[in-house]
Formats: sequence, C-alpha cells, structure tokens
Amino acid sequence: MHLTFALTKGRLADKTLELLRQSGLNIEATEMKNSRRLVFEDEENNVSYFLAKAQDVPTYVEYGVADIGVTGKDTIMEEGRRVFEVLDLKLGKCRMCVCGPESARELLEHHEMIKVASKYPVIARDYFHNVKSQTVDIIKLNGSVELGPIVGLSDVIVDIVETGGTLKENGLTVLEEICPLSARMIVNQVSMRLKNERIRKLIDELNSILGDE
Ligand code: PRP
Repeated sequence: MHLTFALTKGRLADKTLELLRQSGLNIEATEMKNSRRLVFEDEENNVSYFLAKAQDVPTYVEYGVADIGVTGKDTIMEEGRRVFEVLDLKLGKCRMCVCGPESARELLEHHEMIKVASKYPVIARDYFHNVKSQTVDIIKLNGSVELGPIVGLSDVIVDIVETGGTLKENGLTVLEEICPLSARMIVNQVSMRLKNERIRKLIDELNSILGDE
C-alpha cells in the first residue's frame, strides 16, 4: 500500500528526515536539498514524499494528496484542518507564549483592552477570548513580531519562544505561557481508515524509536 508524506521544509526538515530514516524509510536528505525537484520516491518502500511550507502541510493532508504530514503543533492549531493528530515526534520543542515588556504585565492582570500582534491570530484569539475571557484587539503580522511592542503597534505579542534569545535581545519577556509546542504527525482521515494497518505499523515503529531516546 502506497504512502505519501508532506514534510515541513526549513528547521524541522533535517530532524524529521532523520527520524523517518531510522524507521526504515529510504529518504535521501542531501538529494532533496541539492535538487529543484519537489516530489521524491522511495520505490523500495512504496513511499513518496515532498517538502512544503509549514502552513500548507495540513492542507495537503486534509485534501488527501498526502496521507501523512509532519509539522508543528502551532501550525496545526492555527490552520484548524480536519486531520487526525496521531503522534508527538518531540522534535523542535518550544512554547507558545504571550510576551511583551515587563510593563505590560499589569495590563494582562487587569484584563485591559490591549492590542496583541501575532503571526497566529487564531491561537491568540482562542487564548484571550476563550481561555482568559479577555477582549483584545488582535493584529496579524507575518514575521519579526517582536517589533510590535517595540515600535508601539501592540502592547504584547503571541509568539513562539524557543531559547528566549530574540525576546532578550529586544528587551521583552515571557508574560504568560499558552502551551508547549513540538512537531506532530498528522494523518488524513480517510487514509487512516483505508491504510490503517500500514499507518499503525509506522506509528508503532516511530513510538519505539522515540521511546528509546
Ligand atoms: C521565531 C519566533 C521568534 C523566534 C524565537 O521566529 O517567531 O521570533 O523564532 O526563537 P528564540 O526564542 O530561540 O529566539 P522565526 O525565526 O521563525 O522568524 P520570524 O520572526 O520572521 O517568523
């Protein structure tokens, strides 16, 4: 039974490819990086795979052009696609946080009507509206979100914190933690039924590799 994987290019790619290789797939990372080709075949294992932008991975999986996807929990939450999240790959661990200058802490405590800049408006809205019941103004940005409070566009940001280095260099700090993040494996809902045995086997294999680490 054939399987197609949609993998996330960028930071996660190398670690994901290494993990899939450990599970027995014949995936050639260097071939992927040095080539303009988009889709790769592992004929021996009856697998195809391609690297896509993180936000598009859940889309490929929901539409079933990929049976399996690997991308960050942040993207999965933000995109809200109808897919099954089946495994925490424990790669790319970081946190989704509310960050800002120390002076913004009391605005959060007093549930003030604040401005929140984020690349993740769905996650930010869900957190403030549903978890905290705080009415806020969400402003969508596409990157370098730390600029928001620095130039006065927003009071705080909702963003990924890994080492905390970016915040520190910009005089910002973590004010509240929303949730931990890491790479997850997602599966198309129909594939999960039709290719259950093969997908289960892969999940078991990956689980035992992850358990050994
Ligand atoms: C991410 C995130 C932070 C930074 C956090 O940005 O949005 O800016 O990494 O990492 P740190 O805690 O280790 O400093 P990314 O590098 O993906 O770029 P972007 O801001 O342009 O989206």
